[in-house]
Amino acid sequence: MSAEYLVNGSVAVITLNNPPVNGLGLETRTAAVAGIRRALADDAVKAIVITGAGKAFSGGADIKEFNSPKALTEPSLHSLIQVAESSTKPVIAAIHTVCMGGGLELALGCNYRVAMPGAQIALPEVKLGLLPGAGGTQRLPRVVGLEMALNMIVSGTPVLSEKFAGTALFDEVFSSDANLIDAAVAFANKVADVRPLPRVRDRKVNYPNHEAFLQFSRNTVKAMSGAFPAPLECVETVAASVTKKFEDGIKFERERFLHLIQTPESKSLRHAFFAERLASKIPDVPGDTPTREIKQAAIIGAGTMGGGIAMNFVNAGIPVILLETRQEALDKGIATIRKNYENTMKKGKLTQEKFEQRVGLISGTLNYADIAQADIVVEAVFEDMGVKESVFKQLDAVMKPGAILASNTSTLDVNKIADFTSRPQDVVGTHFFSPANVMKLLEIVRGAKTGKDVLATTLALSKKLRKTGVVSGVCDGFIGNRMIEQYSRQAGFLLEEGCLPEQVDKAVEKFGFAMGPFRMGDLAGNDIGWYIRKRRYVESPEITYSKTADLLCEMGRYGQKTSAGWYDYKAGDRKAYASQDVNDMIVKHSADIGVERRKISDEEIVERLVYSLVNEGALILEEGIAMRASDIDMVYLTGYGFPVFRGGPMFYADTVGLANVLMAMEKYAKGRHGDAWKPAPLMVRLAAEGKGFNS
Ligand code: NAI
Repeated sequence: MSAEYLVNGSVAVITLNNPPVNGLGLETRTAAVAGIRRALADDAVKAIVITGAGKAFSGGADIKEFNSPKALTEPSLHSLIQVAESSTKPVIAAIHTVCMGGGLELALGCNYRVAMPGAQIALPEVKLGLLPGAGGTQRLPRVVGLEMALNMIVSGTPVLSEKFAGTALFDEVFSSDANLIDAAVAFANKVADVRPLPRVRDRKVNYPNHEAFLQFSRNTVKAMSGAFPAPLECVETVAASVTKKFEDGIKFERERFLHLIQTPESKSLRHAFFAERLASKIPDVPGDTPTREIKQAAIIGAGTMGGGIAMNFVNAGIPVILLETRQEALDKGIATIRKNYENTMKKGKLTQEKFEQRVGLISGTLNYADIAQADIVVEAVFEDMGVKESVFKQLDAVMKPGAILASNTSTLDVNKIADFTSRPQDVVGTHFFSPANVMKLLEIVRGAKTGKDVLATTLALSKKLRKTGVVSGVCDGFIGNRMIEQYSRQAGFLLEEGCLPEQVDKAVEKFGFAMGPFRMGDLAGNDIGWYIRKRRYVESPEITYSKTADLLCEMGRYGQKTSAGWYDYKAGDRKAYASQDVNDMIVKHSADIGVERRKISDEEIVERLVYSLVNEGALILEEGIAMRASDIDMVYLTGYGFPVFRGGPMFYADTVGLANVLMAMEKYAKGRHGDAWKPAPLMVRLAAEGKGFNS
């Protein structure tokens, strides 16, 4: 049973019980309908209370049923709401903690709603590219008014129950010390004989001059929603609550919902939603694996990354000690953190009190003995194996037993780093992305000997730091940077063959990337890639690169930090201006290597950049570096600005069809640097079977 039934005096109490948030899955719906019918058939029952067990009234649809026929099996959510709404005895929704999506739609189908303060009320469907499809767009405006309903449905943001004072959403919000069930039963007794039964559907939405308001909303939402169709569809369906009769509004809502559920944007958002949840599950590390306590952190190196990583810990309330080699570097690092917080405070996003609290959690030292008691230490020193070796040997000597030793290396071998210590089981890679206090992605690099409890602890820590943790195996560049290298190589070849940076950036930005490869290079610093390539020229001379990026660095154009990169920059301005010097260098380079420049279409640019990611992703998947295709998608969605509405590179390849991707790759394999297009055997196999990476 996923709903319990009991009778309290003359009131039946139906308690939805489907942990963790009483999702309205088939069994719960069936049990709820059965409960209402049982109460209607019992002459001793005069009123019905519906509530939820545990931590929610109801979080809405059961996500486990998404994409399964169960979601449409009767009784559907529509039918459950209809049974509640057509009840001949009053039905009261007793709401607490969380009441969202289908949960709120069910409550809106009840005759009365009572609530505890502090309950989070929302219709968040828009976040999955959908709209509330079980009457929410028609009933919510009838109780909270057009404007508030529109805001809630278009944004999906939760509103606290006590904020609905003055609206008809709740008939009563109890005091915080009330017992919800007792109070709801008392309320039910009070209204048991009131007839006619009030129904939300019978109310009217009154809004003077609604057409002007709706037109204004359409314009604003259209301008803000970019590639996503759902927000505007939300406006149109909410508009129907004023302009159409209730039944017609419901029909319209259904039609638009069924349209949205088929859109690639919604499919991508739903994929990302599941991918994020899946990423934290590791098959051989069960959910109940014991974790280590993290109460104190230390960070080695107070540079760009060390400072940002420190802010993550401090924001989560974990004190941090920063260790540097020189007092000057330490002072500079701590001053930068302070300045960042000051800027946040100036923008009004941090109070003086919180500022003091956060800054108070940071201290610095030049001495390893001072960090010995930290529960985790994150190393963020120069990307040089010799420096990492010296740091990890010192950590091994001083850190207390059980401390986690993490490295923020972006390319180096975590197994080698682990072997510098006598406790490789405690070593793990924590690859933060820059700026570390902003970017959501945390690549967790699992070494050959990393302990399962260390992995479980690091995953739990990523949640505490409000990051999306994705586990990667050990290889050069891990998931994200290993793939981006292929993308950057293609971007370089495109320059040799006829493109200029602006054309490449514009084409992929139009595809939806937050930033094209050259603007991204200027932001991150072109010298980083130069440094890595110099290593590759020695270690892997067989890999070919365009020389244009090296020539750029030789011109001293490292990017925004030198006010010159692929583009020119003006002081105090991040805007990129095309550079004649750079464009001349590119054209001359083509001539020097004897390549006749040609006109390259945007389609070719996008295909070459995106499919190079996909092919490398397939190799990574086949080698077991990534556990699943959706993990690769998460890395790209949260760390590399891949367009969310395309669901990540692997999901996107599935939507194009792997056979089509391979066909395009074959075409490019006939061009220059054809060796870069050797298809990953996994992709060839899946395409032959008519499958995708995610199916
Ligand atoms: P950075 O050069 O800004 O900072 C490194 C800091 O480490 C400097 O303050 C330096 O004084 C200090 N340091 C050097 N040797 C030390 C030692 N033996 N003991 C204590 N402190 C020492 O470098 P950044 O960019 O912060 O990179 C640090 C690490 O993070 C590297 O492994 C890098 O590959 C990785 N990383 C960098 C990203 C980026 O975008 N900058 C992104 C992700 C990872």
